[in-house]
Amino acid sequence: MNTIDRFHSWRRKLRWDKQYKSGRWDLLKDESESVRYLTISEHIRTYGISNPDILALGCGEAILLDYLLPEDYNLFYGVDFSAISIEKAIKKQHFKAQFETNDVQLFEPRQKFDIIIFNEIFYYIMDSKKKPVLEVMKSYLNPNGIIIVSMFRERPECWDFFQRKDLHSVDFKTVESEVSDKYWKIGVFSKKLQD
Ligand SMILES: C[S@@+](CC[C@H](N)C(=O)[O-])C[C@H]1O[C@@H](n2cnc3c(N)ncnc32)[C@H](O)[C@@H]1O
Repeated sequence: MNTIDRFHSWRRKLRWDKQYKSGRWDLLKDESESVRYLTISEHIRTYGISNPDILALGCGEAILLDYLLPEDYNLFYGVDFSAISIEKAIKKQHFKAQFETNDVQLFEPRQKFDIIIFNEIFYYIMDSKKKPVLEVMKSYLNPNGIIIVSMFRERPECWDFFQRKDLHSVDFKTVESEVSDKYWKIGVFSKKLQD
């Protein structure tokens, strides 16, 4: 990343920290959000291998873990650039979970994963970094692994990044909450075997 991008990313990180500190993102614990986490947790069980190593990018406070049982995964590795959100995630003391404070645009995993999750994060990645981040993450996905992506409302310009020759769409649906106009599109992608 060049210096200007790093500066913008640092400013965004500070904004997220401030918002997590003020409790603004407590709204993610609302009942109306649960359908999103439930759908993702079902996708993990349905499409993931058993006992997977999971990488959650932009994991925030790791609310998703509240929807998983310890037997649903071998490792849950959460990454977020907001140190405040990671502190909150660590405090939960979830079994088999590890966390790292890092910018997903700079993050280089130290191992391969069976499931990589972009849960309400992909649209925050700088446009120039969306493709490279996906490339890096795809290279750390095990051959039979899956990528799960959730995005609030319509994000056609973001979903285009997942229309790739080397990715196969396994599941894609709109998930609605009880609140009017509050819905998500959630997709599951696997690596396509090259010809
Ligand atoms: C809407 S919240 C979603 C949190 C979590 N995935 C969830 O659904 O509960 C977006 C998260 O992305 C994180 N984020 C945004 N840009 C990021 C970046 N470049 N690197 C790491 N985390 C980032 C924010 O700090 C925030 O925790």
